Amino acid sequence: MCGIVGYIGNKQAVNVICDGLEKLEYRGYDSAGVAVVNGDSKVNWAKKQGRLSGLEAVLEQSPIEGTVGIGHTRWATHGAPSDINSHPHLNMSETIAVVHNGIIENYMEIRERLTAEGYVFKSETDTEVAVHLIDKYYEGDLLQAVYKAVAEFRGAYALGVVSSNHPGELVAVRKESPLIVGVGEGEYFIASDVPAILKYTRNVYYLENDEVVYVKDGKIQILDAEQNVVDKELKVVEWDIEAASKGGYDHFMMKEIYDQPQAIRDTLLRRLDENRMIRLDDIKLTKEDLDGIQKMYIVACGTAYHAGLVGKYAIEKLAKVPVEVDIASEFRYSDPFIDEHTLLIVVSQSGETADTLAAMKLAKSKGARVLAITNVVGSSVAREAHDVFYTWAGPEVAVASTKAYTAQMIAFYMIALDFAFKKGTITLERYHELVNNIEALAPLVEEILADKAQIEKMAEDMKDAQNAFYLGRGVDFTTAREAALKLKEISYIYTEAFAAGELKHGPIALIDQGTPVLSIVTQDALQEKMISNIKEVKARGAFVIAIAKKGDTEIAKVADDLFYIPEAEDLLMPVLAVIPTQLISYYVSIARGNDVDKPRNLAKSVTVE
Ligand code: AGP
Repeated sequence: MCGIVGYIGNKQAVNVICDGLEKLEYRGYDSAGVAVVNGDSKVNWAKKQGRLSGLEAVLEQSPIEGTVGIGHTRWATHGAPSDINSHPHLNMSETIAVVHNGIIENYMEIRERLTAEGYVFKSETDTEVAVHLIDKYYEGDLLQAVYKAVAEFRGAYALGVVSSNHPGELVAVRKESPLIVGVGEGEYFIASDVPAILKYTRNVYYLENDEVVYVKDGKIQILDAEQNVVDKELKVVEWDIEAASKGGYDHFMMKEIYDQPQAIRDTLLRRLDENRMIRLDDIKLTKEDLDGIQKMYIVACGTAYHAGLVGKYAIEKLAKVPVEVDIASEFRYSDPFIDEHTLLIVVSQSGETADTLAAMKLAKSKGARVLAITNVVGSSVAREAHDVFYTWAGPEVAVASTKAYTAQMIAFYMIALDFAFKKGTITLERYHELVNNIEALAPLVEEILADKAQIEKMAEDMKDAQNAFYLGRGVDFTTAREAALKLKEISYIYTEAFAAGELKHGPIALIDQGTPVLSIVTQDALQEKMISNIKEVKARGAFVIAIAKKGDTEIAKVADDLFYIPEAEDLLMPVLAVIPTQLISYYVSIARGNDVDKPRNLAKSVTVE
């Protein structure tokens, strides 16, 4: 996701825009830019790869005057971070400028058509088709040209548009990607999120899909898709400025936990074509390639490794291909079997983890094909890989990974489906059933997140624990491992995950009176075994908190406390089961007075061995 800010009024636009972009850097920060109209025949603009401070330095050297403008801070989805791929994008005569947040899914077909009509593209972005299409339809009326252009888009977009031909006008459009309008004294603002404008006004309109903002000569209109005026209620924002820098949440981690439904939708839906088939444009693995693969590894670190464990389940179950999963720091020194018939899938949110990168280079040196799942466009992992699957979770700032994890699992489900379809190991009916079931996860996550008060109380009961254990079987053991990592890394409580069937082989010796044991019970075929394991630890004094599917009344008979989650098919349950464990970790960390977003001894990206 990216950050958009626009301004029209009597202040210097660049100052207002840079103020706002700074508050939106949590939305993306690989490049930034501004475009200002001030009566000159062309739009005045500046844009630069890197953090906002780099752009501000450029503007310091070469100031841009003017009271109407748009700005953007980027989180790349199409086209690596670079000056030329930064927004704003301009038409060839530099009389129209556009900033965009979202993804125009049919941009390639529009780009090909416009190129054939003589338009010259400079960037690799999807956004650039927007400004050339507006230019194509421009016949003296900026608003009408914008309406005609967006009518051709498929996907998600929030757009800001200015033109040197219309110095008193600002146009903005919202479709899926959020956009708000700030209303000041004789001035108006557009922004991706409230933090950008709180310094100037608390009066906002929250735009709905297909609504268009048109400011002309000091007057504002909000129009619908048919250009009818929409009568919207002006809201007053209550946020404090501090919270606003985290999108209104107290911590980035909580914001990112709540970003997960959108991250799931963005990662999935923008890759479904009109027949609801998954389209993995950046993965060129054909059926023949897959049939030639004799060994498949998934390699990663930490949370990304746990996503890889879920990926193993998905690929083995759907594509019927055996998969080995390993942590990168072990894989690279284990002299693994690798040759030209090997596929290595690496997972890395940051795309910069040293051990993961080293594992990739080792595999490539031995002829392996490398597919990377990463959240950062243009990262080292992305550049080193033969194929890339970008999770579109948006920047993850908190050290404890949450939305990247769920987006990585979605990525694996989609890759497994793609492989299964190519290898013919799945029927089209089952393929579509799974696509529908994956899509249904986002609202189910929202349902869990709505229940956070119960979890906050559970966490209160755990905050003084000296240690804690997570139990699970099958894919629930994977969730237990991720949950244990989350709890230990931000609460500093010694937490370990056990395969529940292993308890009798040693770990049960650790259970004492009141030991908190969190049991993940979502797999139907393993539920009875888990109930037995819960009884075993309770008999030794454990306090058992179960995370189970709604309707599982048997578990309620044995657990001391219970958090029900909605039901999905077993394979997809890890996406739902992890949500309460993320919230438990967050609240326990808060209760213990820790720095949730920056826990001790840890860094967000481990770029050293
Ligand atoms: C996740 O909560 C941890 N902070 C950590 O394990 C992280 O997942 C690991 O360092 C891998 O990072 P990456 O995904 O950026 O490669």
